[in-house]
Amino acid sequence: MEIIANCTHEDIKKAAKKLREGHLVAFPTETVYGLGADATNQEAVARMYSVKGRPAGHPVIVHISSVNKISHWAEVIPEYARKLADRFWPGPMTLILQRSELAKDFITGGQNLVGLRVPSNPMSLTLLKEFELIGGLGIAAPSANRFGAVSPTSVEAVMDELSEYLSGNDLILDDGMCTIGIESTIIDCTQVLPRILRPGGVSEEDISKLTELAQSRKTLISEIKAPGELLSHYSPKAKVSIGEFASAGEGFLAFQEIPTPLGAIRLASPASITEYAKEFYQAIRLADTLNLTRIVVVPPENNGLGVAIRNRLEKML
Ligand code: TXA
Ligand code: MG
Repeated sequence: MEIIANCTHEDIKKAAKKLREGHLVAFPTETVYGLGADATNQEAVARMYSVKGRPAGHPVIVHISSVNKISHWAEVIPEYARKLADRFWPGPMTLILQRSELAKDFITGGQNLVGLRVPSNPMSLTLLKEFELIGGLGIAAPSANRFGAVSPTSVEAVMDELSEYLSGNDLILDDGMCTIGIESTIIDCTQVLPRILRPGGVSEEDISKLTELAQSRKTLISEIKAPGELLSHYSPKAKVSIGEFASAGEGFLAFQEIPTPLGAIRLASPASITEYAKEFYQAIRLADTLNLTRIVVVPPENNGLGVAIRNRLEKML
């Protein structure tokens, strides 16, 4: 596969063409890197699943260039979903809606629902627009990691995860580190009130300013469908512990103002909650690169982006 850094417009056009030809393109979004395939091409999507090592039956998010394309993929769009889309797209939010005929079983995991997102990373938006100009309708893209592993926030991380599985005609677009660093907020928009299925880049507080929310957080549908695999989700090799004492030689992740315990290995020193989210997966990945056996994490508070970080941490325990 080819990696393109300092992408020109021509490079992005070439990537769009690759996708239309049925090849895979790993591309940056503001949340994490995605492994893209033409969402209408069953063979391409099947290969994307195999490169990820993801079991069939897990639905995948379809990325579109603008809110105007929503009706291609979704049949029923509640008023509150329009409001959410108008406010938070392009951005780190995925809406789950009743699917249209275009959304086939191979991207929805056989359910009547489709997940849609308009990312805000400029390179991904250009890719989506160029893809649509040559007849594409949406790019199916899960996070560009092997199934159960930590999402990649840089091209180095994408390479660590997938280089041995990608083939000659596939492409990776390099845009440095993702600015948000944690996956999109997934919102179920199939009921009377919207419900957060996965906390992410858009916080519950921000959503609540716009619309009432259904109270309890429901489990992701793919998690219900594959409960056995849930435990391995987002799992690094190192054991993750919260709020314990880090001994010499163990990894340590905390806000900048918290000093490193004697002999522990500092994995990141974020100065703010946005930095914490941005550096989080990279810090976890670094622990595995260093072959550490344990990572001690002092988590952020349980509000704003902190909710998403704590949600991912819980899945690592
Ligand atoms: O930020 C993100 O959301 C990134 C970037 C690349 O867009 N993508 C991402 O994709 O995290 P993935 O596949 O790793 O996680 C998306 C989750 C899936 O695990 C699935 O549970 C849920 O979204 N999902 C997608 N489509 C769905 C659908 N039709 N019904 C229910 N859940 C869906
Ligand atoms: Mg993922």
